[in-house]
Formats: sequence, structure tokens, C-alpha cells
Amino acid sequence: MPVEAKDVIMTGGCSHALDLCIQVIANRGQNILVPKPGFSIYKTLANSLGIHCKYYSLLPDKDWQVDLEDLESQIDGLTAAIVVNNPSNPCGSVFTRRHLEEILQVAEDNYVPIIADEIYAHFVFSGHEFYPIASLTTKVPVLSCGGLTKRFLIPGWRMGWITIHDRNDIFKEVRLGLTALTQRILGPNSLVQAAIPKILTQIPQKYFDDTLAILQRNAEIGYNALCNVPGLKPVMPAGAMYMMVGLEMDRFPAFGNDLEFTEKMVEEQSVFCLPTQCFAYSNYFRIVLTVPEEKLVEACERITEFCHNHYTHGDEVNGEASIYGLKDIGSIE
Ligand SMILES: Cc1ncc(COP(=O)(O)O)c(C=O)c1O
Repeated sequence: MPVEAKDVIMTGGCSHALDLCIQVIANRGQNILVPKPGFSIYKTLANSLGIHCKYYSLLPDKDWQVDLEDLESQIDGLTAAIVVNNPSNPCGSVFTRRHLEEILQVAEDNYVPIIADEIYAHFVFSGHEFYPIASLTTKVPVLSCGGLTKRFLIPGWRMGWITIHDRNDIFKEVRLGLTALTQRILGPNSLVQAAIPKILTQIPQKYFDDTLAILQRNAEIGYNALCNVPGLKPVMPAGAMYMMVGLEMDRFPAFGNDLEFTEKMVEEQSVFCLPTQCFAYSNYFRIVLTVPEEKLVEACERITEFCHNHYTHGDEVNGEASIYGLKDIGSIE
């Protein structure tokens, strides 16, 4: 179903779009459900309004799909919306059509609307496909947030939008509320607004293809460089700009958690990766794939050296070889 002008609200970036959606849909004391691991801004925005965040789990061994049972179990009488971020920051995952339908079913069964953060809609690697979640439902009302930031690589231009998908007129008051909120502060700047028709229609496709090719190539380089490093378990992304790298923390006993690991890595190797504590998750760090290839290669070499320097074999941890079992001991040889 084509989106009409009345269904689009311009904002000062995707964060502003998310801010307006959370403000309009939830009241103080209510909660929104957000992914774990997930982008921290949902919590920052919600908490500043007295709205709670409840976390639903994403499953690393299932391409970071939503744990649907966990999602449903988090819904209570005060749940105002489910935030779905696809493709994901920090996971780099892209949900299949089938999986999005499963999420929608949970929302529909429980009468909870969706706030879709689809800012990475155009960053999907070959072999995967992006489906706007609103295109897969006629029942669940969806506020979809997007913007120019990622696709056009212009974070400072502060231009985003909300598209309202509401086939059953459930969002009448939400529409009024969104309009009222956009009048408090004029987020989108006029110069970029004027340029939008050209930006959206006249940038050669090659620009987007080249950007995506760089991201995908960097994902492959990063994954291949780190997948055999002792103590690391990178998860190959399907889109966005990021790759998650799992940490076998018990192999790095010098560090209590992913924050300590990444802090020491900056100190010793000058490589900065975000610990997943920043995403309400633990024992991973996140790599950004937008850097030039030679820098990524060098960073991965330094990460590898760091791991070799701090990795402790099973028989050295607590002095007990047997705690890791035969498989791990075998791999040491
Ligand atoms: C998942 C996600 N949503 C929203 C944003 C914010 O985008 P903007 O710069 O347009 O506010 C980001 C930026 O990193 C992001 O990763």
C-alpha cells in the first residue's frame, strides 16, 4: 500500500522520529519493549519521559532472531509498544519475512502496536532481503522510523521521518499527537528539506551499490580475520554496518567483563570497539564496518595480537584442565 503525504511526518533525524513515537504512544509509568542487545537510545529516550524499558532477547545462535516466547512474556497491562529494529544495530541481522510475521502475530494477539526502527533498510547484504514490517500486516498499527543518515552517510544533516501505517484507524489520536509534537520544535532543517526530492531521486545507484559492496566486503574481511582467533566468536552480519564478536570470557581471566576487555584493548592496541554492555548485553563487542579496508585489516591484526597475549588455555584457568572438557583441550594442540 503506497504511503500518502498525510502519513509522513518529517523529523530532525531518526532519533528525533523515535523520540516522537515513544512520547506519543506511551505515558509516564507505562513500558515499551526493546531488543537486547539493542541500540541504547530507546532507553535514554523512554527513561527521560518516565517510561520504562522491558527487554526481550535476541538469539545469537539463531541469526539474532527474536525469542518470541520471551517477547510475549514481557508484555503486560502497561505495555504501550514493541520496538523492532531491523536491520539491527548492533547485531547486523536482517529478519526474514517469516520471522517478521511471527513478531507481528505476537503484537496482534496482544493488541500492542509496533515502533519500527528501519534506519538501516537499505543496508542489506546479497542473499538477504529487507521487508518493511508494516508491509506484512493489515491489522497491527505501525510507526516506522527512517531517515537519510545511514543510506546517504550524512548523520549531521539531521533529517528523518515517521511513516504512519494504520489501516484500521486505531491511531487517530496518535496522529494528532504526532502533529502537535512536531510543532513544539521544528526538527527538520529547511535546506535539507528542500533538497530531499533531489537526494531521493537523483543520486546514481552506483553510489549505493558501492557503499553496500564496501560494507559487505568489510564484513567478510572482519569475519575471516577473527573467526579463528582463540577466544573470539564473530557472528557474520547480514546487513547494517556492524559485526558482533562473542567473547569466551573464561579464556580471558584478566578481565571481568566485555568493558574491561575493550578498555584494555584501547590501551594496548589503540583499537576501540564498543563493549556490548552499551547495548544491554554482555560478553560481546561490536565492530563498525565503515572504516577503510586497510584500517580494518590492521585493526583485526591488533585484536588478534591482543587476544593471543591475553588468552589463557583451559589447563591454565584455575589450574583445572578438566573444566573445559575434551573438545577444548583437543583444540589446544
Ligand atoms: C538503530 C538506530 N536507530 C536510529 C539511529 C539514529 O539515527 P539518526 O542519526 O538519524 O538520528 C541510529 C544511529 O546510529 C541507529 O543505529
